[in-house]
Amino acid sequence: MAETAEIILDGKSYPMPVFEGTENEKAIDINKLRDQTGYVTLDSGYKNTGATKSAITFLDGEEGILRYRGYPIEQLAEKSSFLEVAYLLIYGTLPTEAELKDFSGQITKHTLVHEDVRKIFDGFPSAAHPMAILSSLICALTAFYPESVSPDLSKEEIDLNVIRLMAKLPTIAAWTYKNQMGHPLNYPRNDMDYASNFLHMMFSFPTEKYELNPVVVSALNKLLILHADHEQNCSTSTVRLVGSANASLYGSVSAGINALWGPLHGGANQEVVEMLEAIERDGGDTSKFIAKAKDKNDSFRLMGFGHRVYKNFDPRATIIKKAADEVLSALGLQDSPLLKIAKELEQAALTDEYFVQRKLYPNVDFYSGIIYKALGIPTEMFTVMFALGRLPGWIAQWKEMRENKEPIGRPRQIYVGEKERNYVPINERG
Ligand code: MLT
Repeated sequence: MAETAEIILDGKSYPMPVFEGTENEKAIDINKLRDQTGYVTLDSGYKNTGATKSAITFLDGEEGILRYRGYPIEQLAEKSSFLEVAYLLIYGTLPTEAELKDFSGQITKHTLVHEDVRKIFDGFPSAAHPMAILSSLICALTAFYPESVSPDLSKEEIDLNVIRLMAKLPTIAAWTYKNQMGHPLNYPRNDMDYASNFLHMMFSFPTEKYELNPVVVSALNKLLILHADHEQNCSTSTVRLVGSANASLYGSVSAGINALWGPLHGGANQEVVEMLEAIERDGGDTSKFIAKAKDKNDSFRLMGFGHRVYKNFDPRATIIKKAADEVLSALGLQDSPLLKIAKELEQAALTDEYFVQRKLYPNVDFYSGIIYKALGIPTEMFTVMFALGRLPGWIAQWKEMRENKEPIGRPRQIYVGEKERNYVPINERG
């Protein structure tokens, strides 16, 4: 690897240090570029910018590799539980039995939210999108824990906020759905594990006994693990950027939730199912929609295909595809028309030259929407489910940013507006 890079500007050479990560990713360190040369770099969308050095998640888009703290996602999805993965992401090591017991015990103890938070639900219209309520109420937690905005939180105080957020977000998330349905809100059940308790709060009624289906619990656990972190994606970068101003953990995560809500980010799995439903309503002829997707003059876009950073395949999609097959047959849904349409589109993408050449293979959003649908999760809740899974990643990234004492994020710009001009009084404007 080169030890320095050389930037030549106006005939003058400026050596720039080169930095190499543990997985041999190489970067030109331009921290001093502006001071030394007066130039900045221009990189819209930050596709070539390493905004931070992070020890949490490694992703190789060319090879289709994803690891949390060095552990392959395939192993974690098969062998681990969501709370164990959350501990791993947040604290850097796999927990011992005692550490995991303590971590889940603490989370269980904090699942209730202040009754005043519950009252805020009454102020939201029942038609409100669950993500709007989730981001508002997670932000509102700062009002209930005002000390969380202090820039000098001790390790214990940070841990307490971490536990509170891990514990309370599922409660608030399930309540956003209950609010939308006009159902009574269910209080958490502390005798249940994380995924089971969430399902109970979503689907049970005070009037009836709720039977948990182990297939659904295990599928949910896997989905949450697969979504738990994805290095510097849009919402995580948002959490780090907002957090870099010393904003509270709750405020930073709330900002991340808003970023995730965007259809170009976490809203994609909702769009996949809406697309499948639209194809079904149209008669279910997938070849017609494959042709539309290929037609430059047609505005139809296949949702859930290709990925910004994976140029080969999305390793999460391989795991989730297998899980989708297992879950749907375990639930007796293997013949559902939506699944048939999805399978035909998947087959076309994997075999049709047009899709193969453009690397438009099905991604994680394509399959997650199908499983959520099979688990009985309503479409508008899909992005909330993504937020539930991504929470430990956001927390880990916020905590790492704080521990590394990273400076406030403040990108530059290249101004392309008007040059200086004089103010013209309104009666003289033509
Ligand atoms: C994610 O998991 O955050 C998405 O795949 C988007 C991304 O990484 O850019």
